[in-house]
Amino acid sequence: MREVKLFVVGLGAVGGGLMRLLADKRDVYKRRFGVDVKVSAVADSKGVWAGDDLDPSEVLRVKEEKGTVAAVGEETDPLSAMEDVDFDVLVELTPTDIETGEPGLSHVMKAIELGKHVVTANKGPLAVAYSEIMEAAEEAGVIVRYEATAGGAMPVFNLVRETLRSVDVLSLEGILNGTVNYVLTRMEEEGVTLEDALAEARNRGIAEADPSMDVEGWDTACKVVILANSILGVECTIDDVDVTGIERITPEAIEIAEERGYRIRLIGRATKDGDLVVTPALVPKSDPLSRVKGTMNLLRLGTDVAGDILVSGRGAGPLETASAVMSDVLAIAEGISGLERRHPA
Ligand code: HSE
Repeated sequence: MREVKLFVVGLGAVGGGLMRLLADKRDVYKRRFGVDVKVSAVADSKGVWAGDDLDPSEVLRVKEEKGTVAAVGEETDPLSAMEDVDFDVLVELTPTDIETGEPGLSHVMKAIELGKHVVTANKGPLAVAYSEIMEAAEEAGVIVRYEATAGGAMPVFNLVRETLRSVDVLSLEGILNGTVNYVLTRMEEEGVTLEDALAEARNRGIAEADPSMDVEGWDTACKVVILANSILGVECTIDDVDVTGIERITPEAIEIAEERGYRIRLIGRATKDGDLVVTPALVPKSDPLSRVKGTMNLLRLGTDVAGDILVSGRGAGPLETASAVMSDVLAIAEGISGLERRHPA
């Protein structure tokens, strides 16, 4: 049985979701792919807990009961711990900072420097330094995967990489923020205020640690940047996006739009020419984008020879996002070992 050893940094909503997913499905992955996904270390903002094969349920229990894994591990930081722990893949799940990309950016660069693969759900490092990260990874001969950074469980990067090999994607547009879409849908259908709907989204664990990132469009902008770099080959950072959020959208505006046959949606757009925009838009009710409700995301890829390709899925949520992280971990394990899905698993 092959092993993939993870160093998981960040035990918030997504890190917790990943532990739950592993607790539930580790045996399934063993049977299905012949790979054992082990946790060699976990870190939160206060410390690191390393061990040969940490039990994900135990990690969750310690985190919940003691507030930090430092209670059973050490009060140290991941950068120094990464030097000592034996692991294959850094799983970087710290909160997004769109100004510096930190602390995620340093974690990612350190792992690459150590010759480790990286899987991340953290948008910050890629939104501020996509090219630098990819160049460093190429030089070091390691893989960096980031399926969870745009659209949570909605398959995007891996879909394009694996399935859409034969086409060129020329443009993309979509609903890329679950929190905003949840808020707009609640305002639209139940007349809930923006503030109350946002409080609900926070309770569901889908909003950013700083929810103004969602509402003001910056989270969507991060995703546009990562998508544009990865899928359209546009070298860009968050500074290149023209961003308008939904903070000024009123219940009245939503009602008027509705009466005239439109819905208001926060749309992220990018073209191969480098136009990068986030803006609330009036979307005709006949457009599939207008039918996307709640935390769902939808991305429309405009291709050269295959027309439009639409993909949809849950854009946020701990387990949903963790499923995309795990997909990347398994893809890396496949690169290492040539995994094939076995039936029945
Ligand atoms: N806050 C983000 C959202 C999380 O609501 O879409 C997923 O990126």
